[in-house]
Amino acid sequence: MQTVRQLVDLRAGVAAWRAAGERVALVPTMGALHDGHMALVEAAKRAADRVVVSIFVNPKQFGPNEDLAKYPRKELADSRMLAAAGVDLLWLPPVEEMYPEGFATSVSVSGVSEVLDGAHRPGHFDGVATVVAKLFNQVRPDVALFGEKDWQQLAVIRRLVADLNLELEIHGVPTQREDDGLALSSRNVYLVPEDRARAVALPRALGVAERAIAKGGDPEAALAQAREMLAAAGFEVDYVALTDADTLGEPVEGRPMRLLAAARIGGTRLIDNIPVNTNDYG
Ligand code: PAF
Repeated sequence: MQTVRQLVDLRAGVAAWRAAGERVALVPTMGALHDGHMALVEAAKRAADRVVVSIFVNPKQFGPNEDLAKYPRKELADSRMLAAAGVDLLWLPPVEEMYPEGFATSVSVSGVSEVLDGAHRPGHFDGVATVVAKLFNQVRPDVALFGEKDWQQLAVIRRLVADLNLELEIHGVPTQREDDGLALSSRNVYLVPEDRARAVALPRALGVAERAIAKGGDPEAALAQAREMLAAAGFEVDYVALTDADTLGEPVEGRPMRLLAAARIGGTRLIDNIPVNTNDYG
């Protein structure tokens, strides 16, 4: 696996594959890799001839009171995992390569960025859209893969790609979970054992609400029950919401729906989401 830190080297590596007619996949990450990321890499290998993984802890998507300084950084372990998984190129730009002196551009996707996490983390999705647009221009992949755990992020990126006529496919990869159902996340390392045990309430609360709604129950009552389950487990709830799966606006009769939640336990903010499978109950 080639590891490159300068744009000129990244471009040279990718250009050689393009010249040979190879299809290139990009898996953007912030490192601290876990099996969720490795599922993206495996999906990338199936979707393309060459796989580029980027690791960049993007300061623009962290708010002033968020965990940028303490965000887990594990460059050596990450690099070994990626090499063992057969990744072709690791793109590891330093901050000054990504945002050189004088950098002044921000990409903002209105609507889908403004609700849910966007309302609780002002500026977060502008930071994500800006860095992802840069990564797409730097790597010029044929396909880029993102985890469905960050469902709103995926919706923002799909909107960005459609609006700017970017010529690449976006593939969402299903959330990977621990045996008890907790979604894999780099932030799970912050959970002390007691909070880790209680964190399972998040997927459980979503599952309870999903079954009630899918069976035709009152959505507001189901969401309230999920909030109560989370509070009883010690979570402070940012939101539990039922939305249209694509726009993240109000659900629309006959269109796919998604249940999304964000909540804090012991100072760690966790997010999760699941589809609402109304077909399961006919
Ligand atoms: O999902 C992430 O890890 C990040 O938000 C991303 C897409 C790599 C952009 O920094």
